[in-house]
Amino acid sequence: MQNKIELINKLPKAELHLHIEGTFEPELMFEIAKRNNIKLAHDSVESLKATYEFDNLQEFLDIYYQGVNVLQTEQDFYDLTWAYLQRAKADNVVHTEIMYDPQSHTERGIDFSIAINGIARALKDGKDQLGISSYLILSLLRHLSEQECIATLEQAVDYRDKFIAIGLDSSELGHPPEKFTKLYARATELGLLKVAHAGEEGPAEYIWCAIDVLGIDRIDHGNRCLEDDKLVEYIKEKGLTLTVCPLSNLKLQVVKDLCDHPIKKMLDMGLNATVNSDDPAYFGGYVNENFKAITQSLNLSAEDVIQLVKNSFTGSFLPEDQVLEHLQEIDHIVEV
Ligand code: HPA
Ligand code: ZN
Repeated sequence: MQNKIELINKLPKAELHLHIEGTFEPELMFEIAKRNNIKLAHDSVESLKATYEFDNLQEFLDIYYQGVNVLQTEQDFYDLTWAYLQRAKADNVVHTEIMYDPQSHTERGIDFSIAINGIARALKDGKDQLGISSYLILSLLRHLSEQECIATLEQAVDYRDKFIAIGLDSSELGHPPEKFTKLYARATELGLLKVAHAGEEGPAEYIWCAIDVLGIDRIDHGNRCLEDDKLVEYIKEKGLTLTVCPLSNLKLQVVKDLCDHPIKKMLDMGLNATVNSDDPAYFGGYVNENFKAITQSLNLSAEDVIQLVKNSFTGSFLPEDQVLEHLQEIDHIVEV
């Protein structure tokens, strides 16, 4: 196991499923709340952390949206993003495709420009100072109406150079992909890439629909595709990557035990599965901790780890030549 831990630590990797608001560590939350004169519902980091026990996605979301309320200024969004980038650097993340929820901020009166400008400025500094490349994905809240999501996308048009894709997150059950057909058609018109959370809690049918109706380029989570053999074949045929989040799945009770986690099965079936941290401040670990937990629980081989890391680049939205460079770097590290 020691050798595999060293391998995980030293391999450069991409992170493809990360909500920047889900990296809001309690310590930083208290610091920002203080400077914004906001009183949190809890009076210590420990008592806040004690609430991080979830029976399902919705219980998590209720707490996550409370944390988000603390973010007010462009500097707050910068500090949040910068803290994640530094943490990612420690895990040897060299490329990240992060999501943020514009509506979680505009819905409470924060101007659209504030979050995107703060995040984008930190991402630029991440490239210049930490050597981490990044793309930004605007994730729309599926518990809101399609009209509201389209209005947000139209607001984002002025910032088109700052993001590359749209996504769909928040409460999955009861909000199937087809609710957002027009939104995704508009994203296509704008030349954007498209991802969506599908098959985390929702059935395989939601994944079919996200692929065929929304035309997504990558699947966030996708765990429940394994319930449908035809769907597994279809995902492989289309070459779609799954951004899997093991510790998130455990914390949100998508799996009862990491020993039952489907990622090894996905790999063995030839699916392009990747490892990601989702909302690491809430789920107990950044990307390397996710790798280590599944390597231990599923007894992954060094080859499995290398495959998962390679998948993170082949599943990214980086141009082909940069993907190849990263793959060569991995081969080089593995050989020595
Ligand atoms: N699932 C769905 N929506 C989310 C999540 C998640 O894990 N994190 C933030 N929004
Ligand atoms: Zn997610």
